[in-house]
Amino acid sequence: MEALKQDVIEKLIETALAQRAFSYTPYSGFKVGAALMAKDGTIYTGCNIENAAYGPSNCAERTAFFKAVSEGIREFRAICVVGGKGESLTEYAAPCGVCRQVMMEFCCPEEFEIILAKNKKEYDVYPLKELLPLGFGPANLA
Ligand code: THU
Repeated sequence: MEALKQDVIEKLIETALAQRAFSYTPYSGFKVGAALMAKDGTIYTGCNIENAAYGPSNCAERTAFFKAVSEGIREFRAICVVGGKGESLTEYAAPCGVCRQVMMEFCCPEEFEIILAKNKKEYDVYPLKELLPLGFGPANLA
């Protein structure tokens, strides 16, 4: 599998950062943006959407996945996740366990890459396998 190119990584970071502006977070103030790239190169965006009843809140990553899957897309290459309370980000926002499990449903753990970024220069890339070792997925039920 070809490595993610620098310009693609930067585009995903830029897109995820811009997406934070739409984040609806009246309860936590923790704004997360995601940019999910399908295998065909199309980018699906997502932000976190909170709810007064707390439980129905949705993470940015799942918003992006559900948007894509609901449009018939099921093959993915990478996702960039950015999040934090301030305007400029000082920490990486790693996907929660539920979002990692959703990734496991549609992505190859060895190939799907998760980019955690603060800005276009500060980022780390992890394969899903590393963030969800021994994950349970569709192959277990085949
Ligand atoms: N959040 C995400 O959007 N993605 C994650 O992977 C971690 C948490 C959101 C959920 C909630 O709106 C806020 O961040 C604080 O937990």
